[in-house]
Amino acid sequence: MSGTILPAVGERTPSVLVTGATGNLGREVVDRLRTRGVRVRCLSRRPLQGVESVRGDLTDPAVVRSALGGVDAVLLMWPLLDATPAHDLVAELAAAAPRVVYVSSTAIDDEAARQSDPIVQVHSDVEALLGDSGLRWVALRSDTLASNARGWAAQLKAGDVVSGPDIARTAVVDERDVADAAAAVLLADDDQRGPYVLTGPEILGRADQVALLGAALGRRLRFEAVPRDLARSRMLADGRPEHLVEALVAASVHRPESRLITDHVERLTGRPPGTFGRWAVDHAADFARNHHSA
Ligand SMILES: NC(=O)c1ccc[n+]([C@@H]2O[C@H](COP(=O)([O-])OP(=O)(O)OC[C@H]3O[C@@H](n4cnc5c(N)ncnc54)[C@H](OP(=O)(O)O)[C@@H]3O)[C@@H](O)[C@H]2O)c1
Repeated sequence: MSGTILPAVGERTPSVLVTGATGNLGREVVDRLRTRGVRVRCLSRRPLQGVESVRGDLTDPAVVRSALGGVDAVLLMWPLLDATPAHDLVAELAAAAPRVVYVSSTAIDDEAARQSDPIVQVHSDVEALLGDSGLRWVALRSDTLASNARGWAAQLKAGDVVSGPDIARTAVVDERDVADAAAAVLLADDDQRGPYVLTGPEILGRADQVALLGAALGRRLRFEAVPRDLARSRMLADGRPEHLVEALVAASVHRPESRLITDHVERLTGRPPGTFGRWAVDHAADFARNHHSA
């Protein structure tokens, strides 16, 4: 895609703030930006080792202000289940006026008055705030990240069954492809072209993903869908916060199946998105059986 590195390479090293930098997607974006000689600063509650980091909460305007000094662009993630505190964050962004690339969701329905579930609603609300802010910003709407499967590692180290709430099938996307796309958009001045809608190459359900992990591991694995109430009580027993559990249950009940596959990863990165099978092969070691449970 055409675009201009901001600021032009050779004039000054571009500086990018990455929020969510300790997460599955954020870590990959940080790696790519550093490889490309970008000055990277991170914002998260835990620091990222070896990278300039501002430690704190996205909901704290003073933290956000201190993180924004001198940055040209921000990769914004909003991992919270309430968009209300994002008002303060967007006000800080508007004052500092960097370009903003917001990691949003492919599940947003632009025609709907209300979104399917609280997680999608928050993304829609944050997009609306950015739209009203006067900032130069672009949405990177991501489908379900392949890295969510890491949440199955404990079950697959112990046995051959993944059990949990089922969720509608979507075009699961490799977080490394989303990171490549994010790096391209962060470094290119093409805000007019969004929203980008980043999907993987095939529509998959959880049972499909577990089977593909099994193929990568050489094991016969299966997914066992757990009814809503049992899923809720198990997640609560695991110590997950109640509002998160309710949001996950709502997503599993109300989010519709998506048949959408786009070419946006390829347009941004110059190559087609990877399959979940490829992701599974590359991450097989993370799911290897515990010796004592073999
Ligand atoms: N996963 C998906 O399928 C998917 C799909 C579409 C969009 N997205 C969006 O993509 C983003 C990244 O997804 P992911 O799977 O990489 O997430 P993840 O692995 O759970 O990482 C979340 C990141 O956010 C940081 N964080 C959480 N709460 C924070 C707070 N209050 N203040 C500051 N930082 C905070 C975490 O760091 P600390 O804990 O160190 O603060 C971590 O770096 C999410 O925000 C999500 O909204 C995800």
